[in-house]
Amino acid sequence: MKKLHKFIIAAGMMVSAAMLMFTACTKEGPQGTAGVNGVNGINGVNGVDGLNGKDGTASCLVCHTIANFDSKIAEYHFSKHYMGTASSRNTKFCARCHTSEGFIQILGSGQYVVANDMPTANRVNCTTCHKHSSFDFTGDTVAQILRSITPVYLNYNKNLTATDFGAINNLCVSCHQIRGATSLVYSDTTLRPQVINKAFDQLPYFPFVNTNDNDTVQYRVGRSFSVHDGNQSNLFSGINGYEYQGKTYTRTWKHSAFACTDCHMNKYNPADSTGGHTLWANKAECTACHGGDKITPVQALIDAKRIQLAELLTARKVFKKTTNTSGVVSYSALPSHDFNGKLYQTVTSSELYATSSSNNTVSPTTGLVIYGNMLKYAKDTDFANRIGRVWKYGELGAAYNYAYINSELSMGVHNPPYALQLLQNSIDWLTANP
Ligand code: HEC
Ligand code: HEC
Ligand code: HEC
Ligand code: HEC
Ligand code: HEC
Ligand code: HEC
Repeated sequence: MKKLHKFIIAAGMMVSAAMLMFTACTKEGPQGTAGVNGVNGINGVNGVDGLNGKDGTASCLVCHTIANFDSKIAEYHFSKHYMGTASSRNTKFCARCHTSEGFIQILGSGQYVVANDMPTANRVNCTTCHKHSSFDFTGDTVAQILRSITPVYLNYNKNLTATDFGAINNLCVSCHQIRGATSLVYSDTTLRPQVINKAFDQLPYFPFVNTNDNDTVQYRVGRSFSVHDGNQSNLFSGINGYEYQGKTYTRTWKHSAFACTDCHMNKYNPADSTGGHTLWANKAECTACHGGDKITPVQALIDAKRIQLAELLTARKVFKKTTNTSGVVSYSALPSHDFNGKLYQTVTSSELYATSSSNNTVSPTTGLVIYGNMLKYAKDTDFANRIGRVWKYGELGAAYNYAYINSELSMGVHNPPYALQLLQNSIDWLTANP
């Protein structure tokens, strides 16, 4: 299992610290001369690990060997953090998770969104996750010199209270959580030359508490559930799904005591480039412990429930089912109301409805994003698929639970019992409330 290294830095070592120059993890500088044995730790009189400080160089060399850094860098090159595309995710609504500078800016700032677009920002790299804190390792409060392991402000609670996912998990969850707003306003150009900017709230229904399953609610154009593939945090902790009245939910499961890193940074496996800093779970380690494949059967079970729920929602006209030319089936929520809150009819009509379109572009000269979120007015072509009434919270919750699980490519592996309960209770409610 992973060790937490405890460090003590001795006064005499600061010299060698300064000499050990590493340029932001891509290249190491020349190694400094051996540090002097520490006398006392910084923390008061003595260091944590005993009465006297350790050999400074030895503390540093736990990590800082050329071989170790080279291997970390090589592993990281297989990570999606490294490979993913960054362009257009540098806008102020995306940069906090998709760029290093954005992440560093929001940490501890109490802000959910960065101040400005960041056209020159870099993607997530060593410096995003790691930071030496004044070379003060006393107490090792920041394990593995991680930049942040403090509780996380989630969009669900409007960024007002912090949720503790446990030490290292907090680092991952700062980004691996639902996304939030992608725009503040939509421009309504129907009154040209005058343009009205209409305020946009991406998450008008959150948090899903104190609601009655039978209360009604509009599901308007533009208001996506925002789960955005990053929902592993909530599922792993068994929280923030739509929970029906009178039902009980199991939040913990076999691996609740694991950290994200226990699976995603387990032993590096050169055979398939998983584990370690690739951030892909090395499944050979799982199988060795399980004595067989526990993942595939669980995923098959959850996926079947996911489809059963989607079919029920489609039959009810809450969802629309689409099959593309390659035969791939997908489901999407079909709004009951247009952007301005006008109810969609179920028969053909010449009425014009406001739909939203995001036409953000990136200036080729400045690299800055030019926001172009517009309202368009058009006749409705989906009338035959519409529900023709406001939704009930029970329906909204079922649709949300579908998105919550569907956002997970790993199909529920992050908490099979909670995933199955969310899906089954949604199915049961829809069946009992036709
Ligand atoms: C837990 C592993 C670990 C230990 C122990 C460790 N470092 Fe680092 N160090 C790193 C990582 C990872 C980076 C790269 C971070 C980055 O890119 O900013 C780094 C970066 C550095 C840098 C470059 C800083 C910069 O801003 O570019 C210096 C200098 C450094 N370490 C010195 C030391 C010294 C001196 C010690 C011992 C007192 C030490 N480190 C102990 C992991 C460690
Ligand atoms: C600064 C934000 C940030 C932090 C911190 C972060 N991630 Fe990520 N992670 C991302 C983003 C953004 C992507 C998607 C990258 C892309 O496709 O461009 C991603 C992708 C991934 C993927 C690949 C997902 C896929 O579908 O292919 C895994 C696995 C992952 N992260 C695990 C972790 C773990 C484990 C941690 C904590 C040790 C972590 N991440 C910390 C932002 C972050
Ligand atoms: C709260 C953090 C967060 C915010 C904000 C965010 N993302 Fe992401 N995004 C992620 C994470 C985490 C992943 C990877 C999740 C996974 O693969 O399971 C991801 C994945 C993606 C992917 C798929 C990547 C791939 O390579 O498959 C795209 C595209 C994307 N994001 C675009 C955006 C855009 C555009 C914005 C801004 C409007 C944005 N994201 C805002 C966290 C975020
Ligand atoms: C997504 C966040 C993230 C990124 C990016 C990242 N690390 Fe790490 N790193 C971690 C975590 C988390 C640990 C602790 C792993 C554990 O405890 O299982 C760690 C541990 C380490 C260690 C100490 C453990 C050891 O085996 O020596 C070193 C050194 C290190 N990282 C170097 C790097 C370098 C170099 C890079 C860039 C190529 C990098 N890290 C990028 C999250 C990250
Ligand atoms: C230290 C041993 C150990 C390791 C390592 C381990 N697991 Fe497990 N896991 C267990 C045990 C024990 C169970 C419960 C066994 C059971 O339910 O039959 C379990 C159950 C599970 C389940 C639930 C299965 C079900 O039927 O509900 C999943 C999913 C799972 N593990 C995934 C993983 C993944 C993914 C990894 C590797 C990244 C992993 N585990 C690594 C011990 C381990
Ligand atoms: C029990 C082991 C285990 C734990 C703990 C775990 N994961 Fe995963 N995770 C997996 C497996 C297995 C996959 C499927 C990917 C694969 O097959 O390689 C996965 C997939 C992912 C993906 C890819 C997209 C998706 O949703 O399927 C991301 C991102 C991710 N995990 C992030 C996290 C984060 C963040 C945490 C901590 C909150 C975490 N994981 C905890 C085993 C685990």
